Amino acid sequence: MNILLLGSGGREHAIAWKLSTSKKLKKLFIAPGNAGTNNLGTNINLNTKKFSSIGSFILKEKINILIVGPENIIVEGIYDYLKPKFPNLTIIAPSKKASLLEGSKRFAKEFMEKYKIPTAKYASFKKNQFKQAVNYLKSIKAPYVLKANGLAAGKGVVILQNKLEAEKELKEMLIDNKFGAASDEVLIEEFLSGIELSVFVLTNGIDYKILPTAKDYKRIGEGDTGLNTGGMGSVSPVPFANKAFMQKIENLIIKPTIEGLKKENIKYYGFIFLGLIKVNNEPKVIEYNVRLGDPETQVVLPRIKSDLVNLFSKIEDEHAFKLEKLEISAKCCSTVILSSKGYPEKYTTGQSISGLNTSEAQNIIFHAGTKKENNKIITNGGRVLAVSSLGKSIKQATQNSYKRIKAIHFDGVYYRKDIGLDLIPK
Ligand code: AMP
Ligand code: GLY
Repeated sequence: MNILLLGSGGREHAIAWKLSTSKKLKKLFIAPGNAGTNNLGTNINLNTKKFSSIGSFILKEKINILIVGPENIIVEGIYDYLKPKFPNLTIIAPSKKASLLEGSKRFAKEFMEKYKIPTAKYASFKKNQFKQAVNYLKSIKAPYVLKANGLAAGKGVVILQNKLEAEKELKEMLIDNKFGAASDEVLIEEFLSGIELSVFVLTNGIDYKILPTAKDYKRIGEGDTGLNTGGMGSVSPVPFANKAFMQKIENLIIKPTIEGLKKENIKYYGFIFLGLIKVNNEPKVIEYNVRLGDPETQVVLPRIKSDLVNLFSKIEDEHAFKLEKLEISAKCCSTVILSSKGYPEKYTTGQSISGLNTSEAQNIIFHAGTKKENNKIITNGGRVLAVSSLGKSIKQATQNSYKRIKAIHFDGVYYRKDIGLDLIPK
C-alpha cells in the first residue's frame, strides 16, 4: 500500500509511526510532515490547501490510502473533491456534510437533538439576533458558555463567570467578528460540570471500532490553570471509564451517532472523536470532531496492537471491516508536551533541540513543531515534542516520560509537571 498522510503535528508523527510498523506499507509520504515523520517516510512539500495538487501527487505516486490529520482540510471538503476523481482511493476523512459535525456546532447540536444523544442544552443566535442573545444571557445563570459556530482553531469556546463580561464577549464574537465568519453565529450553552474524556471511533458509517480512551490536559498551567492550549499532555486509558461506563457511551452516544449518519445518508469513512464529559455518572457530548485528537493520538496509537493499514484498507468493504477486531494493549500510555517559550501566546522558534537520540524501548518521542536545518533539529512551533511512554500503570508510564524528558533540552522549554497525577490512586 502507498499512503499519503496530510498534516505536520505530533498526531501525524504518531500516525506515521503506527503505519510504519505495518508489513502492508510500501511507501509513506507525509505532507508537509516534520523532522520526526521524515525518518519514517518521505516529507513532501505539497500545498495541502490546494486539492488539485494533492490529486496530482496521488496520481503520480499511485497512492492507495489518503489519511487526513487536521480538521480544516476535512471541513474544506477534501473527500468530496477527491473521491469522484479517484474512486479506488481509500480516504480516511469523512465527507463535507459529515464534517459539519465539527465545522458547525449548531449542526452538531441539531444532529444530537434529532437522535436523542445526551448533550448540554443550548440556544443559537445569528448576527441579526444580538438583542435576543443578550436577553437569553440575562435569563440564565453563570457560568456562561459561549461558542463560535464555525472552526476557530480550537479557540472558539469561551467560558465566563460574570454576566457583564459574557455580554461583552458575546458582542465581540457576534458583532465585532472576533473569530471572523466562525462567530457569525454563536451558541450559548448550559454549563456542564464533570470530568472530561476523549473517545475515538473508527467507522465506515455502518460499523465501528472503539479505540482506547484518553484524557487531554488542555490548560497551559499545572492544576488546569491558565490559557487553553492545543493540549499539554494526555494519558490512556482513563481509569473512570470502566466497562459499565463504556457501555453507556456505546449505547447512548456511539450507536445513535452511527444510526444518525445512516439515516441522514451521510458518508463517513474515518475517525469520530467524541469529546465527552461525565456528569453524575452519565456521559454527555461536549463536542464532535471528525479526526483524531492531538495529543490524544500520541497515547492512543501506542496502545493499539492491530495493524492500522490493514484496517484502513478494509474500511470500504462492509463485510471485511466488520470481521476485523481491534486489539488493544493492557499497558498504559502517557505523553507530556514540551512547548516553546511563550506558548500558547506568541512563542519563540528556531531553538536547537538536544537529547533526542537513544530512547529506552518504553519511550517514543513524537515530533510536533520541529524541522531539520543544517542537519540540526530545531523548534518550529508552539508545541514542539510529545514524549510518550508505556508502563504497566499510569503512574509508571508518566514517570517514564518525565525521566526521558530530563535528557531533552532547548532554550525556553516548558512542560507541565502534573500530567496524569489526578488519575493516579493516592
Ligand atoms: P473545545 O474548544 O470545543 O474543545 O472546548 C473547550 C473546552 O471547553 C472543553 O474541553 C470543555 O472543557 C469546555 N466546555 C465546552 N462546552 C462546555 C459546556 N457546555 N460545559 C462545560 N464546559 C464546556
Ligand atoms: N486535543 C484536542 C483536539 O485535538 O482537539
